[in-house]
Amino acid sequence: MSDRAQVAVSYDVDNEFFRLWLDERMNYTCAVFDDTDDLEAAQVAKLELLYRYGRVTPDSRVLDIGCGWGANLEYLALDRGVRDVHGITLSQAQYAEIRRRDLPGVTASCVDYRDYTPPVRFDTIMSICMIEHVCTPEQARAGEAVARYRDYFRRAWQWSRPGASFALQSILRNRAPRIPADIREVGWVTYQIFPGGMTPRMQDIVAAVNPYWEIVEVRTRREDYRRTCEHWRDRLRAQEQQIRDRWGGQLFADYDRYLTACIRAFEMHYQSLAQWSLRRIDQI
Ligand SMILES: C[S@@+](CC[C@H](N)C(=O)[O-])C[C@H]1O[C@@H](n2cnc3c(N)ncnc32)[C@H](O)[C@@H]1O
Repeated sequence: MSDRAQVAVSYDVDNEFFRLWLDERMNYTCAVFDDTDDLEAAQVAKLELLYRYGRVTPDSRVLDIGCGWGANLEYLALDRGVRDVHGITLSQAQYAEIRRRDLPGVTASCVDYRDYTPPVRFDTIMSICMIEHVCTPEQARAGEAVARYRDYFRRAWQWSRPGASFALQSILRNRAPRIPADIREVGWVTYQIFPGGMTPRMQDIVAAVNPYWEIVEVRTRREDYRRTCEHWRDRLRAQEQQIRDRWGGQLFADYDRYLTACIRAFEMHYQSLAQWSLRRIDQI
C-alpha cells in the first residue's frame, strides 16, 4: 500500500510539470485509441467508455477513488452534466488542482481511501488505475495481494447502493521479464517512480471481487497503453529544454527512462491494461 509520502513521490513533483506532457485534462492513465490517433480524443474516449461501464446518468451519485488531477470529475460534471460527483486522492498537489478547477457539483477529499467515510451511498464507483497502489511488492510476495484487493472491493461495496455499478481500470502484471535489462528497468520504475505500488495480476482481481462484485465485461488494452506512453514520451521530449531549465536534467532523464521502460513493458507483454464493468452483488 503506498502511503502519503510515497504517493507524493509519484504525483507531487509539480502540477506544471505533468501539465506539460499529459493531455489537457491531465489523465494519467491509459487512453482508448479505437477511433483516433489523437491523445486528447483518446482520453475522452476512455472516459466515455468508463462512463458507460459505470451506467452513469446526470442524477447518479458518483465516487471516483484515486481521481488524480480531476480529469474524470471534470468530464462527468462538464461533458455529462452529472450533478453529484466526489473524488478522493491522497496527493496534496492533485487535490489543490481539483480545487482550482472549481467544477460544478464536484467535491473532493485528500484522504487515504481506507480512512474515508462517505456521507452518502453512491450509485456508481469509478476507479481508474488506483488499485496499483493497494498492495506493495513485499505484500504480494507474502501472499497478501488477494486479501488486500478484496478489502478495497469490500469498501466500495459498503459505500454503494443496491444495484450500483463499478467502472474499474487497472494495469495488469502479465508475466515476469527474463531479460536482465528488462528486470532492472521494471524494478526501477516500481521502486523509484511508484514506490509502495505494484501492478496486480488479472487472476488476483478476478478472485478478489468475490463476493462483492459481478464481472459483467472485461476488455484488455495492452496496445492502447503502449500508444499512450509513446504520446507522453513524445510530448515530454518536445518539452525537454523547458523541463531541464525549470526542474533540472535529472527529472527529465528519470521520466524519459520511466516512459521508455513502460513502452517496452507493454510491447513485451510484461504488463497489460484491463477495463472492468462490475455490478454490485446485493444478495450477500
Ligand atoms: C495513476 S493515478 C490515476 C489518477 C486518475 N484516476 C487518472 O486517471 O488520471 C493514481 C491515483 O490514486 C491515488 N491514490 C493512491 N493511493 C491512494 C490511497 N491510499 N487513497 C486514495 N487515493 C490514492 C493517487 O493519489 C492518484 O490520484
